[in-house]
This record gives sequence, structure tokens and C-alpha cells, in this order.
Amino acid sequence: MYTATIGAPISTRDIQRPEYRSLTATPLSPHIGAEIGGLDLTKPLSEQQITELKDAFVRYQVIFFREQQISHEDQIRVASHFGPLGQHVGKNTISKPTDNPFVRRFHYDETSDRVSGENWHSDQSCAPMPPLGSMLYLHTVPPDGGGDTLFASTYAAYDALSERMKDYLGGLTATHDGARVFGPGTPKSSHPVIVRHPESGRRGIFVSWDFTSHIDGVPKAESDAILNFLYRHIGRDEWSCRFRWRPHSIAFWDNRCAQHKAIWDYWPNIRSGFRVQIEGTQAPIAG
Ligand code: SIN
Repeated sequence: MYTATIGAPISTRDIQRPEYRSLTATPLSPHIGAEIGGLDLTKPLSEQQITELKDAFVRYQVIFFREQQISHEDQIRVASHFGPLGQHVGKNTISKPTDNPFVRRFHYDETSDRVSGENWHSDQSCAPMPPLGSMLYLHTVPPDGGGDTLFASTYAAYDALSERMKDYLGGLTATHDGARVFGPGTPKSSHPVIVRHPESGRRGIFVSWDFTSHIDGVPKAESDAILNFLYRHIGRDEWSCRFRWRPHSIAFWDNRCAQHKAIWDYWPNIRSGFRVQIEGTQAPIAG
């Protein structure tokens, strides 16, 4: 079967569905996202729970939790199983610091004129070593719905490219300029356009609407045309999922293989919570 728009069948995730013993994982879509059940994140996790959670994080690219009324300490404890926590590299950010250097406040209401993350992106890809993952906890969500977050699999987007396009993009690098989002004084870095995930070994596309200013070493018109194609391609419905928040939900995404986009359709209602990020341990690896 061929789809009219992609040009080839879109196969589902090729990794087998795992048999977890200490938690449940219910996929949200064939390519990305799973809701995790059977854990209480206000309590310390067992070794087996940590191992299975790490497996689910890499396998599903974004994992979700429901009905977890967590404190900053709980959020930090769970996220720290994945690596040391890091700090935002942006100069002028829409999210705000809290008293805790690792916890940022994501609060939007009738006084907001912008919200964080309205365009497809992975977090702070302008950094030389972008954050490995980000964990967002929302305690308050808009009463009439809205404020969903979309997540896209950059693996599935890569897999669906033609072999000719994969050949063209392989070996290219692109500049990610943080000033586009967070103003002057924010880092700028060059990263491979096609990256290989250090744990899964899968290839994904690593450019984003928010941060990527240009593909290095090609004429501007060519860079613009290729990037515009890739941005539309990455954000396709075919390999994205949509998370509908409820109070005390958590989304925890892998910035190395997933992009996300927050939908601001709820003004003047309140959407509020806290985010921590896990430090990147290495620069993106060429695929
Ligand atoms: C972000 O981290 O970019 C914002 C995500 C969200 O608010 O859903």
C-alpha cells in the first residue's frame, strides 16, 4: 500500500513491544509516545523500575504519566536517574527560573503575550551539547481543554525520506542559533543534519524550525528550500502524537530523537507547571 503524499508505506516501529514487569507502557501512536502506568513517582523507584523506565524512554521517545502529584524534589529525583540535571542556556526566556536552579516555571495566563515552544523544536539545540531530555509537569491545565503538546519522531521522519535525500543530507551540518529564540548572548552551534542516537543507534533528522538558521556550506536559497521541506516533513501527522494534559500529568521527552510543539489555544486560561532538563553528555553524533 502506498500513501499519496509520502510516496512509500510508512512502517510501524520496528522494535518489538517489550514485556515490562514493573510498569506498563501503552503506546499513543505507532511511532512515538507511550503512557506509563504502575508507578508512583512520589516514592523512590526500584532498580527494576528504573531500568524499565530507561528502556521505555529510549524506545518510545516520549513517555507520559498521569495523576502524579509531585514536588520539585520528586521531579528532580526521577529525572536524575537519567543523568545530571542541567540549566537553560537561553538569555531571555519565556519560562522563568525558580528558587531551585534546576526547576523552571512554565506558567501562562491572561497576562501572557507568548508561551514557550510554539514551533517544532528540540530543546536548546543551539547548545554545543543540547539537553538529553526534558520533563514537564503540569499541575494546572485549562478548564475547557486546549494546551496540548505535539511530539514528532525524527526517526520515522528520517526513515520516510527517499534514499536520494538521505544521501544528500548525510554529512551536512547546520547552524542552530539560539538568538533566534532567546535573544543575543544565547549560544550558537553547528550540528550534523542527520544524527545517530547514542543508545538506540537509529538515525534521525536534527534541524528545527525554531533554532536552525541555515545548512552550512550551501547557498542560502538551497538551504532555505531544504530546511523548509524538512520542517514540514518532521511535523507531519503520520509520525506525531498529541498529548492532552490533565492536572498532574507529566511528559518526559528525549531531545535526541523527538521534537515537540506546544499549542497556545487556551488564552486567557491558566496552564501552569514546572520543567527540569537532563544535561547532554555528548554533542549530537553524525548519522
Ligand atoms: C516546551 O518545552 O517547549 C514547552 C512544552 C509545553 O509547554 O507543552
